[in-house]
Amino acid sequence: MIKTLAKSIRQYKIKTILTPIVMIGEAAMEIFIPWVMSLLIKVLEGSTSDPSWLQVLVGNITSDMLGQVAIYGGIMFVMAVLSMACGVLGGKLASEASAGFVANLRNDMYTNIQRFSFSNIDKFSTSSLITRLTTDATNIQMCFQMMIRMLIRAPMLFIFASVMSFRIAADIAVIFLIASVVMALVIVFIISHAHPNFKMMFEKYDELNAVAQENLVGIRVVKSYVREDHEIEKYKNSTKSVYDYSIKAEKWLTAMMPVVQLIVYGVMILVLAIGGNKIIYGTGLDVGDLTALISYSTQILSGVMMVAMVLNFFAMAKNSADRVSEVLEEKSDLHNPENPVVTMADGSIDFENVSFVYKDGGEEILADINLHIESGETIGVIGATGAAKSSLVQLIPRLYDVSAGCVKVGGVDVRDYDLTFLRDNVSMVLQKNVLFSGSIAENLRWGNKDATDEQIEAAAEAAQAKEFVEKIPEKYEYDLGQGGVNVSGGQKQRLCIARALLKNPKVIIFDDSTSAVDTKTDALIRQSLQKQSPEVTKIIIAQRIASVQDADRIVVLDNGKIADFGTHTELMQRCEIYRDVYYSQVKRGEENA
Ligand SMILES: Nc1ncnc2c1ncn2[C@@H]1O[C@H](COP(=O)(O)OP(=O)(O)O)[C@@H](O)[C@H]1O
Ligand SMILES: [Mg+2]
Repeated sequence: MIKTLAKSIRQYKIKTILTPIVMIGEAAMEIFIPWVMSLLIKVLEGSTSDPSWLQVLVGNITSDMLGQVAIYGGIMFVMAVLSMACGVLGGKLASEASAGFVANLRNDMYTNIQRFSFSNIDKFSTSSLITRLTTDATNIQMCFQMMIRMLIRAPMLFIFASVMSFRIAADIAVIFLIASVVMALVIVFIISHAHPNFKMMFEKYDELNAVAQENLVGIRVVKSYVREDHEIEKYKNSTKSVYDYSIKAEKWLTAMMPVVQLIVYGVMILVLAIGGNKIIYGTGLDVGDLTALISYSTQILSGVMMVAMVLNFFAMAKNSADRVSEVLEEKSDLHNPENPVVTMADGSIDFENVSFVYKDGGEEILADINLHIESGETIGVIGATGAAKSSLVQLIPRLYDVSAGCVKVGGVDVRDYDLTFLRDNVSMVLQKNVLFSGSIAENLRWGNKDATDEQIEAAAEAAQAKEFVEKIPEKYEYDLGQGGVNVSGGQKQRLCIARALLKNPKVIIFDDSTSAVDTKTDALIRQSLQKQSPEVTKIIIAQRIASVQDADRIVVLDNGKIADFGTHTELMQRCEIYRDVYYSQVKRGEENA
């Protein structure tokens, strides 16, 4: 997991490595300042026992007490400035490294998501992908920043302050170590209680996003069913759960600071008591040493606390890191072949013993399908909802791969084609189609980015979209709005058809693409298609018999199997399912008339 994430550090590697180094500088200065201060106090006290190298050095420069005070003061000032500089620089480096790293991480996730196949997409819900791209990435950023700033600095502070303390007074240093262990235990106890709540909080956060996202995508449906109050309630419940868990978690964390302070002050009192005794009875400790010891005690304990905090952050971010690496590690299960075919003989289609499941071990959706479709034929596909009509045609442009058998276009297995080439030549109008924000022309150019205005017009005309587009004052520059909300359902379907036609494909598939278009326009679309591109193989999935009865041949799908395949007349004679559908619709037609 860490390896997967670390790949995204890239150009921020130097900053990532430099941060802890600079932070070590800060820690070193923090360690030395109390030492220099203790020397200064010794000078003021007039204590001359066991002088250190710095005392000797300063003593050689000047024996004047005021002069010495000035030198020590100067050294401390420079160290303080250096420490500050290191701190500021380290903070800057850390924030740049972490922000840059997470920007890369987000881009890497997004890039991988764009490469997902349909079955990859089926594995993740949209809302959870959004949480991974936003909240989870932010958690990782915070944790990463903390880690590179603290993870080296804190142990350094701890080790060096301990060494210095031992040199001054081993018995007092032992107290520090015991206090450190106590503090570590207390913090671990607190964090282990807070942590499950944080984990739950993030899970609830996921749910919150899911609720909001589902609602916002379907807000028009929510309104038309007057479900606002119900939806508000749902969202309220979600925010309440997040609130509850964060309160529970924070309750534990708020206990942390007072406990830590208690330990720190307790240690100080002990040091003052024992150290004071030693000074009074003159057993080798002076006031300078005592002030240094007090500084070191806080440094040791704050070192312990910082390590604990980093570990806490790490534990919190671990879930996020797992979820982000899941996205990064998800491999698209559609691969381009080694030597892809980039020519297509014609638009003939063969299904040879095809069976298909969506998930390994899942229910068999298509079984033993054998079909031969001639190039240029118009094929109707009819069958009840859930009969696997969409599943069948999605195999042709390789939106999914077959589980067994093979699908051929132009006599070549679809898995041998270059994927982009295949999808350019097998154009599909999806059942759940969407348009994107932007103008009509921009949306149509998804089919062919270099299409001329004339080509766009021609495609719109064939899809019977030209008339209504030209009635709009802005015409092809009209903005469709997010998801194409600014046009009606039937108009949207016609624009989707025009977009697919612009690809100039060899095979074109309409998956229930004219369901919202009136019967007359539906017929006009089929006529103009036949006239404009007679050589293109057309597959038309429809609910209405009228949409398919003129087709060269019609596939009747029943529960994932081909019930029959033939012309309208043949099917009327021999296929009961087809006859039933026909009569039910004709009767309904008569009733409506
Ligand atoms: N993405 C998917 N993941 C799992 N099962 C699916 C998926 N899409 C469709 N199915 C299932 O496959 C079966 C056939 O669906 P579909 O091909 O959409 O039927 P149709 O287009 O004829 O209405 C249904 O039982 C449906 O629940
Ligand atoms: Mg369908």
